Amino acid sequence: MMRACVEPSASFAFVSDAIAPDKSISHRAAMFSVLAEGESRIENFLRAEDTLNTLKIVGHLGAEIHDDGSVITIRSNGIQESAEILDCGNSGTGMRLFCGLLSSAVGHFVLTGDEYLKRRPMKRVTQPLRNIGAKLDGRNDGDLAPLSIRGASLKAFDYESKIASAQVKSAMILAALRADGVCTYYEPELSRDHTERMLGGMGAHLEINGLETKIWPLQKPLNPLNIRVPADPSSAFFFAVAAAITPDSSVVLEGVTLNPTRIEAFKVLERMGADITYTLTDERYEPIGNITVKYAPLKAVIVEKNISWLIDELPALSIAMACAEGKSIIKNAEELRVKESDRIKTVVDNLNLCGIETQEYPDGYAVNGGVLRKASLNSYGDHRIAMSFLVAGLKCGMEVEDVECINTSFPNFFDLLGKCSKVTR
Ligand code: S3P
Repeated sequence: MMRACVEPSASFAFVSDAIAPDKSISHRAAMFSVLAEGESRIENFLRAEDTLNTLKIVGHLGAEIHDDGSVITIRSNGIQESAEILDCGNSGTGMRLFCGLLSSAVGHFVLTGDEYLKRRPMKRVTQPLRNIGAKLDGRNDGDLAPLSIRGASLKAFDYESKIASAQVKSAMILAALRADGVCTYYEPELSRDHTERMLGGMGAHLEINGLETKIWPLQKPLNPLNIRVPADPSSAFFFAVAAAITPDSSVVLEGVTLNPTRIEAFKVLERMGADITYTLTDERYEPIGNITVKYAPLKAVIVEKNISWLIDELPALSIAMACAEGKSIIKNAEELRVKESDRIKTVVDNLNLCGIETQEYPDGYAVNGGVLRKASLNSYGDHRIAMSFLVAGLKCGMEVEDVECINTSFPNFFDLLGKCSKVTR
Protein backbone atom coordinates (compact mmCIF):
# COMPACT_ATOMS: atom_id res chain seq x y z
CA MET A 1 0.00 0.00 0.00
CA MET A 2 1.27 3.42 -0.88
CA ARG A 3 1.54 6.20 1.69
CA ALA A 4 1.71 9.95 1.00
CA CYS A 5 2.95 12.75 3.25
CA VAL A 6 2.21 16.41 2.83
CA GLU A 7 3.89 19.27 4.66
CA PRO A 8 2.15 22.40 5.94
CA SER A 9 1.82 25.09 3.29
CA ALA A 10 2.93 28.69 3.78
CA SER A 11 0.75 30.02 0.96
CA PHE A 12 0.22 29.36 -2.75
CA ALA A 13 -1.46 30.79 -5.82
CA PHE A 14 -1.98 29.04 -9.13
CA VAL A 15 -4.21 28.80 -12.16
CA SER A 16 -5.04 25.29 -13.35
CA ASP A 17 -6.61 23.91 -16.50
CA ALA A 18 -5.55 20.43 -15.38
CA ILE A 19 -8.32 19.51 -12.93
CA ALA A 20 -9.48 15.97 -13.75
CA PRO A 21 -12.26 15.79 -16.36
CA ASP A 22 -15.71 15.12 -14.93
CA LYS A 23 -16.24 11.54 -13.84
CA SER A 24 -20.05 11.47 -14.08
CA ILE A 25 -20.01 12.99 -17.57
CA SER A 26 -17.19 10.71 -18.79
CA HIS A 27 -19.04 7.54 -17.68
CA ARG A 28 -22.19 8.71 -19.41
CA ALA A 29 -20.44 9.83 -22.60
CA ALA A 30 -18.89 6.39 -23.09
CA MET A 31 -22.08 4.51 -22.20
CA PHE A 32 -24.58 6.59 -24.13
CA SER A 33 -22.47 6.37 -27.30
CA VAL A 34 -23.59 2.73 -27.42
CA LEU A 35 -27.14 3.95 -28.12
CA ALA A 36 -26.08 6.20 -31.03
CA GLU A 37 -25.82 5.59 -34.74
CA GLY A 38 -22.57 6.94 -36.18
CA GLU A 39 -19.36 7.96 -34.52
CA SER A 40 -19.39 9.70 -31.15
CA ARG A 41 -16.48 11.97 -30.33
CA ILE A 42 -15.33 12.55 -26.77
CA GLU A 43 -12.59 15.02 -25.98
CA ASN A 44 -11.01 15.30 -22.52
CA PHE A 45 -12.39 11.93 -21.35
CA LEU A 46 -11.36 11.19 -17.75
CA ARG A 47 -8.47 8.74 -17.96
CA ALA A 48 -8.90 7.37 -14.46
CA GLU A 49 -9.58 3.80 -13.33
CA ASP A 50 -13.36 4.14 -12.91
CA THR A 51 -14.09 5.64 -16.30
CA LEU A 52 -11.50 3.56 -18.16
CA ASN A 53 -13.31 0.49 -16.78
CA THR A 54 -16.55 1.82 -18.24
CA LEU A 55 -14.85 2.43 -21.60
CA LYS A 56 -13.47 -1.11 -21.58
CA ILE A 57 -16.94 -2.52 -20.90
CA VAL A 58 -18.33 -0.47 -23.79
CA GLY A 59 -15.70 -2.22 -25.93
CA HIS A 60 -16.71 -5.65 -24.58
CA LEU A 61 -20.29 -4.82 -25.59
CA GLY A 62 -19.17 -4.58 -29.21
CA ALA A 63 -18.45 -0.88 -29.77
CA GLU A 64 -15.42 0.09 -31.86
CA ILE A 65 -13.25 2.44 -29.82
CA HIS A 66 -10.45 4.53 -31.21
CA ASP A 67 -8.22 6.57 -28.93
CA ASP A 68 -5.63 8.91 -30.41
CA GLY A 69 -4.48 9.92 -26.95
CA SER A 70 -6.53 13.10 -27.05
CA VAL A 71 -9.92 12.31 -28.60
CA ILE A 72 -11.80 9.05 -28.11
CA THR A 73 -14.23 8.00 -30.82
CA ILE A 74 -16.85 5.32 -30.29
CA ARG A 75 -18.87 3.63 -33.03
CA SER A 76 -21.62 1.41 -31.72
CA ASN A 77 -22.62 -1.92 -33.18
CA GLY A 78 -25.69 -2.19 -31.00
CA ILE A 79 -25.28 -3.96 -27.68
CA GLN A 80 -23.68 -7.36 -28.15
CA GLU A 81 -23.52 -10.21 -25.67
CA SER A 82 -20.05 -10.46 -24.15
CA ALA A 83 -17.98 -13.49 -23.22
CA GLU A 84 -16.22 -11.29 -20.66
CA ILE A 85 -17.20 -10.53 -17.09
CA LEU A 86 -17.85 -6.80 -17.09
CA ASP A 87 -15.67 -5.35 -14.32
CA CYS A 88 -16.78 -1.93 -13.04
CA GLY A 89 -13.85 -1.75 -10.58
CA ASN A 90 -14.67 0.71 -7.80
CA SER A 91 -17.49 2.47 -9.61
CA GLY A 92 -21.07 2.49 -8.32
CA THR A 93 -22.04 4.77 -11.21
CA GLY A 94 -20.68 2.28 -13.74
CA MET A 95 -22.45 -0.69 -12.20
CA ARG A 96 -25.81 0.98 -11.59
CA LEU A 97 -26.05 2.64 -15.01
CA PHE A 98 -25.02 -0.55 -16.82
CA CYS A 99 -27.88 -2.34 -15.00
CA GLY A 100 -30.31 0.07 -16.65
CA LEU A 101 -28.62 -0.12 -20.05
CA LEU A 102 -28.31 -3.91 -20.18
CA SER A 103 -31.71 -4.82 -18.72
CA SER A 104 -33.28 -4.64 -22.17
CA ALA A 105 -30.30 -5.84 -24.26
CA VAL A 106 -30.37 -9.21 -25.99
CA GLY A 107 -28.15 -11.67 -24.12
CA HIS A 108 -26.66 -12.49 -20.74
CA PHE A 109 -24.26 -10.17 -18.92
CA VAL A 110 -22.30 -10.38 -15.66
CA LEU A 111 -21.24 -7.23 -13.80
CA THR A 112 -18.70 -7.27 -11.02
CA GLY A 113 -16.43 -4.87 -9.15
CA ASP A 114 -13.68 -4.57 -6.54
CA GLU A 115 -13.96 -5.56 -2.87
CA TYR A 116 -15.56 -2.19 -2.00
CA LEU A 117 -18.10 -2.14 -4.81
CA LYS A 118 -19.14 -5.72 -4.01
CA ARG A 119 -20.27 -4.45 -0.59
CA ARG A 120 -22.40 -1.56 -1.89
CA PRO A 121 -26.21 -1.77 -2.23
CA MET A 122 -27.56 -2.49 -5.71
CA LYS A 123 -31.20 -3.20 -4.82
CA ARG A 124 -31.96 0.48 -5.34
CA VAL A 125 -31.63 -0.22 -9.09
CA THR A 126 -32.22 -3.96 -9.34
CA GLN A 127 -35.62 -3.78 -7.57
CA PRO A 128 -37.28 -1.07 -9.69
CA LEU A 129 -35.81 -2.69 -12.80
CA ARG A 130 -37.17 -6.10 -11.76
CA ASN A 131 -40.57 -4.47 -11.18
CA ILE A 132 -40.74 -3.59 -14.88
CA GLY A 133 -39.69 -7.03 -16.08
CA ALA A 134 -35.88 -6.99 -15.95
CA LYS A 135 -34.20 -10.29 -15.15
CA LEU A 136 -31.48 -9.29 -12.72
CA ASP A 137 -29.95 -11.24 -9.89
CA GLY A 138 -27.05 -11.16 -7.48
CA ARG A 139 -26.09 -12.12 -3.93
CA ASN A 140 -28.54 -11.24 -1.20
CA ASP A 141 -31.50 -11.37 -3.58
CA GLY A 142 -30.03 -9.01 -6.15
CA ASP A 143 -28.52 -6.49 -3.72
CA LEU A 144 -24.84 -7.34 -4.05
CA ALA A 145 -22.53 -7.84 -7.01
CA PRO A 146 -21.61 -9.88 -8.93
CA LEU A 147 -24.87 -9.24 -10.75
CA SER A 148 -26.20 -11.21 -13.66
CA ILE A 149 -28.54 -9.74 -16.20
CA ARG A 150 -30.54 -11.49 -18.88
CA GLY A 151 -32.00 -8.85 -21.18
CA ALA A 152 -35.79 -8.83 -21.31
CA SER A 153 -38.60 -6.64 -22.62
CA LEU A 154 -39.43 -3.89 -20.19
CA LYS A 155 -42.81 -2.44 -19.27
CA ALA A 156 -43.50 1.27 -19.12
CA PHE A 157 -43.36 2.62 -15.57
CA ASP A 158 -44.41 5.37 -13.26
CA TYR A 159 -41.80 5.20 -10.49
CA GLU A 160 -41.45 7.34 -7.42
CA SER A 161 -37.94 6.97 -5.99
CA LYS A 162 -37.47 7.33 -2.25
CA ILE A 163 -33.88 8.53 -2.68
CA ALA A 164 -32.49 11.47 -4.64
CA SER A 165 -29.96 9.46 -6.63
CA ALA A 166 -28.70 10.30 -10.09
CA GLN A 167 -27.51 6.74 -10.45
CA VAL A 168 -30.97 5.29 -9.85
CA LYS A 169 -32.57 7.99 -12.02
CA SER A 170 -30.11 7.37 -14.84
CA ALA A 171 -30.53 3.59 -14.71
CA MET A 172 -34.30 4.01 -14.94
CA ILE A 173 -34.06 6.56 -17.75
CA LEU A 174 -31.83 4.18 -19.74
CA ALA A 175 -34.37 1.39 -19.15
CA ALA A 176 -37.23 3.72 -20.15
CA LEU A 177 -35.61 4.41 -23.53
CA ARG A 178 -36.39 0.81 -24.48
CA ALA A 179 -39.60 0.26 -22.50
CA ASP A 180 -42.96 -0.38 -24.17
CA GLY A 181 -44.44 3.06 -23.47
CA VAL A 182 -43.93 6.52 -21.99
CA CYS A 183 -42.38 6.34 -18.49
CA THR A 184 -42.41 8.75 -15.56
CA TYR A 185 -39.69 8.98 -12.91
CA TYR A 186 -40.10 11.07 -9.79
CA GLU A 187 -37.37 11.89 -7.24
CA PRO A 188 -37.69 13.56 -3.82
CA GLU A 189 -34.97 16.19 -4.51
CA LEU A 190 -33.32 17.00 -7.84
CA SER A 191 -30.16 14.92 -8.26
CA ARG A 192 -27.42 15.72 -10.81
CA ASP A 193 -28.95 15.93 -14.28
CA HIS A 194 -26.14 15.06 -16.70
CA THR A 195 -28.08 12.09 -18.08
CA GLU A 196 -31.08 14.22 -19.03
CA ARG A 197 -28.90 16.93 -20.58
CA MET A 198 -26.75 14.52 -22.56
CA LEU A 199 -29.51 12.20 -23.79
CA GLY A 200 -31.66 15.23 -24.63
CA GLY A 201 -28.74 16.66 -26.63
CA MET A 202 -28.44 13.33 -28.49
CA GLY A 203 -32.09 13.50 -29.55
CA ALA A 204 -33.92 11.49 -26.87
CA HIS A 205 -37.39 12.77 -25.99
CA LEU A 206 -37.45 13.70 -22.30
CA GLU A 207 -39.60 16.24 -20.53
CA ILE A 208 -38.52 17.55 -17.17
CA ASN A 209 -40.98 19.21 -14.89
CA GLY A 210 -39.44 19.96 -11.51
CA LEU A 211 -38.78 16.63 -9.84
CA GLU A 212 -40.63 14.64 -12.50
CA THR A 213 -39.05 13.32 -15.69
CA LYS A 214 -41.08 11.84 -18.53
CA ILE A 215 -39.20 9.62 -20.94
CA TRP A 216 -40.39 8.43 -24.35
CA PRO A 217 -39.06 5.16 -25.78
CA LEU A 218 -36.53 5.61 -28.59
CA GLN A 219 -38.04 5.47 -32.08
CA LYS A 220 -34.57 5.39 -33.68
CA PRO A 221 -30.95 5.36 -32.50
CA LEU A 222 -29.64 8.53 -30.88
CA ASN A 223 -27.48 11.05 -32.71
CA PRO A 224 -23.77 10.64 -32.00
CA LEU A 225 -22.30 12.61 -29.16
CA ASN A 226 -19.79 15.36 -29.73
CA ILE A 227 -18.52 16.52 -26.39
CA ARG A 228 -15.57 18.02 -24.61
CA VAL A 229 -15.82 16.82 -21.02
CA PRO A 230 -15.52 19.77 -18.62
CA ALA A 231 -13.40 19.61 -15.45
CA ASP A 232 -14.96 17.86 -12.48
CA PRO A 233 -16.24 20.24 -9.78
CA SER A 234 -15.88 17.45 -7.21
CA SER A 235 -12.16 17.20 -8.02
CA ALA A 236 -11.78 20.98 -8.30
CA PHE A 237 -13.31 21.34 -4.85
CA PHE A 238 -10.27 19.83 -3.10
CA PHE A 239 -8.25 22.81 -4.29
CA ALA A 240 -11.05 25.24 -3.49
CA VAL A 241 -10.85 24.04 0.12
CA ALA A 242 -7.04 24.11 -0.02
CA ALA A 243 -7.12 27.84 -0.95
CA ALA A 244 -9.94 28.63 1.48
CA ILE A 245 -8.01 27.30 4.49
CA THR A 246 -4.52 28.58 3.64
CA PRO A 247 -3.90 32.28 4.43
CA ASP A 248 -2.84 34.45 1.45
CA SER A 249 -3.69 31.69 -1.04
CA SER A 250 -5.83 31.53 -4.16
CA VAL A 251 -6.64 29.23 -7.06
CA VAL A 252 -8.31 29.65 -10.44
CA LEU A 253 -9.91 26.37 -11.51
CA GLU A 254 -10.55 26.49 -15.25
CA GLY A 255 -13.11 24.81 -17.50
CA VAL A 256 -15.26 23.35 -14.72
CA THR A 257 -18.91 22.41 -15.22
CA LEU A 258 -21.00 25.06 -13.48
CA ASN A 259 -24.09 22.84 -13.52
CA PRO A 260 -26.07 24.00 -10.45
CA THR A 261 -26.57 20.40 -9.32
CA ARG A 262 -22.78 20.12 -8.97
CA ILE A 263 -21.44 23.35 -7.47
CA GLU A 264 -23.46 23.54 -4.27
CA ALA A 265 -20.39 22.81 -2.13
CA PHE A 266 -18.72 25.94 -3.54
CA LYS A 267 -21.85 27.89 -2.54
CA VAL A 268 -21.60 26.51 1.00
CA LEU A 269 -17.92 27.41 1.16
CA GLU A 270 -18.93 30.92 0.09
CA ARG A 271 -21.52 31.00 2.89
CA MET A 272 -18.69 30.08 5.26
CA GLY A 273 -16.85 33.22 4.17
CA ALA A 274 -14.54 32.12 1.33
CA ASP A 275 -14.15 34.58 -1.52
CA ILE A 276 -15.42 32.74 -4.64
CA THR A 277 -16.26 34.00 -8.14
CA TYR A 278 -17.63 32.13 -11.16
CA THR A 279 -17.06 33.13 -14.79
CA LEU A 280 -19.11 31.42 -17.49
CA THR A 281 -16.95 30.72 -20.56
CA ASP A 282 -18.85 28.09 -22.55
CA GLU A 283 -22.13 26.19 -22.82
CA ARG A 284 -22.34 22.75 -24.40
CA TYR A 285 -24.69 20.23 -22.80
CA GLU A 286 -23.61 21.98 -19.55
CA PRO A 287 -22.64 25.52 -18.47
CA ILE A 288 -18.82 25.62 -18.18
CA GLY A 289 -16.50 28.21 -16.66
CA ASN A 290 -13.76 29.20 -14.24
CA ILE A 291 -14.01 29.27 -10.47
CA THR A 292 -11.70 31.54 -8.47
CA VAL A 293 -11.29 30.86 -4.76
CA LYS A 294 -9.38 33.09 -2.33
CA TYR A 295 -8.60 32.59 1.32
CA ALA A 296 -10.78 34.29 3.94
CA PRO A 297 -11.39 33.35 7.58
CA LEU A 298 -14.17 30.75 7.67
CA LYS A 299 -17.16 30.48 9.98
CA ALA A 300 -19.33 27.46 10.80
CA VAL A 301 -22.29 26.47 8.64
CA ILE A 302 -25.31 24.15 8.74
CA VAL A 303 -25.80 21.93 5.70
CA GLU A 304 -29.15 20.18 5.51
CA LYS A 305 -30.63 20.96 2.07
CA ASN A 306 -29.78 19.98 -1.52
CA ILE A 307 -27.63 17.23 -0.09
CA SER A 308 -27.40 15.29 -3.36
CA TRP A 309 -25.87 18.41 -4.96
CA LEU A 310 -22.84 18.22 -2.66
CA ILE A 311 -22.78 14.65 -1.42
CA ASP A 312 -19.38 13.89 -3.00
CA GLU A 313 -17.86 17.09 -1.64
CA LEU A 314 -18.86 16.59 2.01
CA PRO A 315 -15.55 14.96 3.05
CA ALA A 316 -13.57 17.93 1.68
CA LEU A 317 -16.11 20.40 3.05
CA SER A 318 -15.60 18.82 6.47
CA ILE A 319 -11.95 19.90 6.34
CA ALA A 320 -13.11 23.49 5.79
CA MET A 321 -15.49 23.02 8.73
CA ALA A 322 -12.61 21.81 10.91
CA CYS A 323 -10.80 25.09 10.12
CA ALA A 324 -13.86 27.31 10.65
CA GLU A 325 -14.87 29.15 13.77
CA GLY A 326 -17.78 27.42 15.51
CA LYS A 327 -19.75 24.21 15.20
CA SER A 328 -20.81 23.07 11.72
CA ILE A 329 -23.54 20.48 11.21
CA ILE A 330 -24.34 18.15 8.31
CA LYS A 331 -27.81 16.54 8.35
CA ASN A 332 -29.97 14.45 5.98
CA ALA A 333 -26.86 12.86 4.51
CA GLU A 334 -27.43 9.18 5.31
CA GLU A 335 -26.37 8.38 1.73
CA LEU A 336 -22.80 9.05 2.90
CA ARG A 337 -22.94 5.68 4.65
CA VAL A 338 -23.05 3.76 1.33
CA LYS A 339 -20.41 5.58 -0.70
CA GLU A 340 -16.93 4.19 -1.47
CA SER A 341 -16.61 3.96 2.35
CA ASP A 342 -19.03 4.79 5.17
CA ARG A 343 -18.06 8.44 4.86
CA ILE A 344 -19.78 9.49 8.09
CA LYS A 345 -17.55 7.11 10.00
CA THR A 346 -14.37 7.60 7.97
CA VAL A 347 -14.58 11.43 8.13
CA VAL A 348 -15.44 11.51 11.84
CA ASP A 349 -12.78 8.96 12.85
CA ASN A 350 -10.08 10.72 10.86
CA LEU A 351 -11.05 14.20 12.10
CA ASN A 352 -10.86 12.87 15.67
CA LEU A 353 -7.36 11.57 14.98
CA CYS A 354 -6.48 15.11 13.84
CA GLY A 355 -7.64 16.53 17.19
CA ILE A 356 -10.99 17.84 15.94
CA GLU A 357 -14.05 17.25 18.09
CA THR A 358 -17.05 15.75 16.28
CA GLN A 359 -20.47 14.26 17.01
CA GLU A 360 -21.72 11.44 14.82
CA TYR A 361 -25.44 11.16 13.86
CA PRO A 362 -27.17 8.42 11.85
CA ASP A 363 -27.55 10.90 8.95
CA GLY A 364 -24.55 13.18 9.37
CA TYR A 365 -22.23 14.72 11.89
CA ALA A 366 -21.13 17.89 13.65
CA VAL A 367 -17.63 19.33 13.39
CA ASN A 368 -16.31 21.71 16.03
CA GLY A 369 -13.85 24.02 14.34
CA GLY A 370 -10.44 23.97 16.00
CA VAL A 371 -6.78 23.41 15.33
CA LEU A 372 -5.94 20.50 13.01
CA ARG A 373 -3.05 18.33 14.23
CA LYS A 374 -0.75 16.21 12.12
CA ALA A 375 -1.77 12.53 12.18
CA SER A 376 -1.17 9.26 10.45
CA LEU A 377 -4.44 8.17 8.81
CA ASN A 378 -5.98 5.54 6.58
CA SER A 379 -8.04 6.30 3.48
CA TYR A 380 -10.09 3.11 3.90
CA GLY A 381 -9.63 2.66 0.15
CA ASP A 382 -11.79 5.75 -0.49
CA HIS A 383 -10.34 8.28 -2.95
CA ARG A 384 -12.24 11.25 -1.53
CA ILE A 385 -11.17 10.48 2.04
CA ALA A 386 -7.53 10.24 0.92
CA MET A 387 -7.63 13.56 -0.97
CA SER A 388 -9.61 15.43 1.72
CA PHE A 389 -7.13 14.58 4.47
CA LEU A 390 -4.12 15.35 2.29
CA VAL A 391 -5.67 18.80 1.79
CA ALA A 392 -6.09 19.05 5.59
CA GLY A 393 -2.36 18.38 5.74
CA LEU A 394 -1.73 21.77 4.11
CA LYS A 395 -2.60 23.20 7.53
CA CYS A 396 -0.65 20.87 9.80
CA GLY A 397 1.17 18.16 7.82
CA MET A 398 -0.40 14.72 7.29
CA GLU A 399 0.48 11.14 6.50
CA VAL A 400 -2.16 9.16 4.60
CA GLU A 401 -1.92 5.41 4.02
CA ASP A 402 -3.48 3.67 0.99
CA VAL A 403 -3.57 6.48 -1.55
CA GLU A 404 -3.68 4.33 -4.73
CA CYS A 405 -7.48 4.79 -4.71
CA ILE A 406 -6.94 8.40 -5.84
CA ASN A 407 -6.36 6.93 -9.31
CA THR A 408 -10.06 6.04 -9.54
CA SER A 409 -10.97 9.69 -10.11
CA PHE A 410 -8.01 12.11 -10.08
CA PRO A 411 -4.73 10.58 -11.35
CA ASN A 412 -2.86 13.92 -11.42
CA PHE A 413 -4.01 15.01 -7.95
CA PHE A 414 -0.47 14.89 -6.56
CA ASP A 415 0.88 17.19 -9.30
CA LEU A 416 -1.58 19.84 -8.20
CA LEU A 417 -1.10 19.19 -4.48
CA GLY A 418 2.61 19.70 -5.15
CA LYS A 419 1.80 23.28 -6.22
CA CYS A 420 0.47 23.90 -2.70
CA SER A 421 3.21 22.31 -0.61
CA LYS A 422 5.89 19.63 -0.44
CA VAL A 423 4.53 16.12 -0.98
CA THR A 424 6.39 12.84 -0.63
CA ARG A 425 5.28 9.33 -1.57
C1 S3P B 1 -23.12 9.95 -9.43
C2 S3P B 1 -24.15 10.15 -8.56
C3 S3P B 1 -23.97 10.25 -7.11
C4 S3P B 1 -22.53 10.51 -6.73
C5 S3P B 1 -21.59 9.63 -7.50
C6 S3P B 1 -21.73 9.86 -8.98
C7 S3P B 1 -23.42 9.85 -10.88
O1 S3P B 1 -24.41 9.05 -6.50
O2 S3P B 1 -22.35 10.32 -5.35
O3 S3P B 1 -20.25 9.88 -7.12
O4 S3P B 1 -22.51 9.98 -11.70
O5 S3P B 1 -24.59 9.63 -11.20
P1 S3P B 1 -25.98 8.77 -6.21
O6 S3P B 1 -26.69 9.00 -7.45
O7 S3P B 1 -26.03 7.36 -5.76
O8 S3P B 1 -26.36 9.71 -5.13
